[in-house]
Amino acid sequence: MLVICPHCKKKHTIDEKKIPPNATKARCTSCGQSFALNIKRPVEEKKQKPVKKGETVTRKIGVSLSKGGVGKSTTAINLSAGLALAGYKVLLVDTDTQGQDSFMLGVKPKAGLTELVTGELSLKECLTKARKNLWLLAGGKALAGVKRMIDRKDYGGEMTVSEALQPVDKIFDFVVVDTSPGWDPLTVNVLFYINELMIPVALEIMSLQGLSEFLRSISSIQKYRPELGLQYILPTFEDKRVKKTSRIMNKIGKIYGERLCVPIRYNVRLSEAPAYGKTIYEYAPGCNGAQDYRELVRKVANDPKLLS
Ligand SMILES: Nc1ncnc2c1ncn2[C@@H]1O[C@H](COP(=O)(O)OP(=O)(O)OP(=O)(O)O)[C@@H](O)[C@H]1O
Ligand SMILES: [Mg+2]
Repeated sequence: MLVICPHCKKKHTIDEKKIPPNATKARCTSCGQSFALNIKRPVEEKKQKPVKKGETVTRKIGVSLSKGGVGKSTTAINLSAGLALAGYKVLLVDTDTQGQDSFMLGVKPKAGLTELVTGELSLKECLTKARKNLWLLAGGKALAGVKRMIDRKDYGGEMTVSEALQPVDKIFDFVVVDTSPGWDPLTVNVLFYINELMIPVALEIMSLQGLSEFLRSISSIQKYRPELGLQYILPTFEDKRVKKTSRIMNKIGKIYGERLCVPIRYNVRLSEAPAYGKTIYEYAPGCNGAQDYRELVRKVANDPKLLS
């Protein structure tokens, strides 16, 4: 490049690559005066970072909606298991007193989230290895005591789960949190822990009402945690024979755009698999339910080639 000294007008030909990236001034070798260097460098395009296996930043995804029976646990299980199958290291946290996730995965945990929160046992002792790459921090009845513990705290109760889960950070690629129906101190704790929210919406009018109600509660948390993003709206129980399904899909598509996931179809295999303690990929790998959850895994991992 050609640089002209503003003082003596001497022309210098300089190799641009040899100029340090943070250089703002230059000195003329002819007259010895310094002058401001004004180089326009091409701005590097900021690319969306792909999710790499073994990456140190743990993505924390909560599957939540106050309405019951919309497919939260089915989604949490099959999303976690799918990510684990794809090679990611995944922790599934069950924050529900029903403790169904261990049953659905066919494991019998000796301890879980309760013992971690109360500090009775170490993280290693609380984890149950459920599959290759997949660990479970089980829920269950004992979590009722955790709720009371949170209620008794004068301040900082909403951070109880985040504090307990701190050692988990950077060990896993993904932490997926399953929540209970309703709105209780544990749900609030989950919303103070996760960064990405996935809301399963059963394709029926009642659950759309539940969605707007839930979103109002979420916005009250986002005031304190602006980093909590509503990342995924996941339609569940899709049945194309039902006319209102496409009407509801259009409606939520207009509002949520890119955040709207490909729906999970109504699939009887999905309701059968838990009785065998199997994920959908193990129970019926070729069924619609397995295909739909694989699609969800690809969207979440931002990798269209996964599991195909
Ligand atoms: N796409 C689907 N097609 C058919 N059955 C499904 C589907 N998704 C979930 N189910 C079944 O519907 C029932 C409710 O699902 P699930 O337990 O996942 O909902 P949930 O939101 O976790 O419920 P809760 O609010 O009680 O925790 C279960 O019996 C499950 O097997
Ligand atoms: Mg559930």
